[in-house]
Amino acid sequence: MKTFKSLFGTELISFILFLLLLSFPYALKAADQIILTQVESGEPTTVTLKHVFHHGSTKYPKLFRRIDLTETKVRAQELASGESLTYTLMGVNGTGIEYVKENAVKEFRDMSKNKLKSAILDWRDIPKYIPLITHWKTLINLAKLTYNAYVKPEDPDWYDLGDKYGLNDTFGWEDDGIRGYVFASGDNKTLVVSIKGTSMGFGAGPTVRKDKYNDNRLFSCCCAYVDRTWSAVCPCYLDEYRCNQNCLEKSVDEDELYYVITLSMVDQIMKEFPNSVIWVTGHSLGGALSSLVGLTFNLPAVAYESPGDRLPARRLHLPHPPAVPAEKMNIWHLGHTADPIFMGVCNGIRSSCYLGGYAMESKCHVGVSCAFDSVEKLGWRVDIRSHRIQEVIDKILNIWESLFDFPRCYSDEGDEDCEDCGLWEYVEGLE
Ligand SMILES: *[C@@H]1O[C@H](CO)[C@@H](O)[C@H](O)[C@H]1NC(C)=O
Ligand SMILES: *[C@@H]1O[C@H](CO)[C@@H](O)[C@H](O)[C@H]1NC(C)=O
Ligand SMILES: *[C@@H]1O[C@H](CO)[C@@H](O)[C@H](O)[C@H]1NC(C)=O
Repeated sequence: MKTFKSLFGTELISFILFLLLLSFPYALKAADQIILTQVESGEPTTVTLKHVFHHGSTKYPKLFRRIDLTETKVRAQELASGESLTYTLMGVNGTGIEYVKENAVKEFRDMSKNKLKSAILDWRDIPKYIPLITHWKTLINLAKLTYNAYVKPEDPDWYDLGDKYGLNDTFGWEDDGIRGYVFASGDNKTLVVSIKGTSMGFGAGPTVRKDKYNDNRLFSCCCAYVDRTWSAVCPCYLDEYRCNQNCLEKSVDEDELYYVITLSMVDQIMKEFPNSVIWVTGHSLGGALSSLVGLTFNLPAVAYESPGDRLPARRLHLPHPPAVPAEKMNIWHLGHTADPIFMGVCNGIRSSCYLGGYAMESKCHVGVSCAFDSVEKLGWRVDIRSHRIQEVIDKILNIWESLFDFPRCYSDEGDEDCEDCGLWEYVEGLE
């Protein structure tokens, strides 16, 4: 290997490996299939859009805003958009975990940040009301929840969340930032929070800057310093495929970044509805954020077409196996094989991500992933356009059940073959 390496150089080797991976993208995964054992029982739950939270970012990075939707308003929105804002979902009394100590996750994060590897996260099994992932209508409806941008910014009923967030009258709508759409059942027992990280816009207008900045912080190997033509989004690059690990960990955990913003938004919602079961969902960046927040607060999360989030989850020191078994986290990733973002192949100089300035370099996911094989079963080519949630709903979720089996599920969590940023060396112990 050494001679081979010196003859051809690491770049060529990685290129060859890349080609090999392209031709057998999931051959490595065949062995460790996870069979979902959930069984349908009980009655479906119906949820309706009740609140929207918005956290701005570029202009007013500290501001938080919300709107509450009355029934009249919901009907008016439905009429105007021709879309229903009421969705039926199937949940089951499944198994989840509960941390024995309060603040366990925070402690775990603090301890593992300080590299005290002895950090133990005590947990126990508890019954938990979780989404029935194998139920098609539920998969489709959760996906629908993630994409409709229902409430217009001009609506006069948006109001500020109070002094705590430093709000004042000059706060205007921004297209970037994070929105949380809260759908609730009539009795408020079940809440679904759909996290919207606005765009992931390839040519989607001028508002994508902040999203791109966040994407590049979360999903790149080293501050999106992909090559000399890129400007780094954090100062952690050292030299030739070496990166400062401490610096990276700080870079994903800063206050104005979407992870922290989403955390405080969901925290607010949890405080307001302390007796509700809360699920989180999202598409793309919103999907990754929903799973990161799900991990942090131990809430079930269903993410669609999310980029690889195991990398940021590790950098944020969120609980992971063996501390917690992957299947008990109740984090599900749904995606299809022609979506380069979900598959983690939207990188390299010819990719649309590279061209769009996105350094989407991660590919492994947390929790359990289920991949619709659109390449094999539908004959699709890998194409960024198939990343859109509308395509996924119309051309995959809506037709799959009548044609094929439920997609294969697996976990990248403990999978040695799933490696992010293998070419990089992360140097510990630097300031
Ligand atoms: C699920 O658990 C809840 C609360 O324990 C219970 O009221 C409900 O009947 C259970 N549903 C089913 C289908 O077992
Ligand atoms: C409102 O907040 C913004 C952002 O913090 C600030 O620039 C502006 O001066 C404030 N306006 C008033 C009237 O307090
Ligand atoms: C549900 O929560 C909303 C908002 O907090 C509240 O206005 C409503 O009365 C609650 N409904 C029930 C049935 O508790």
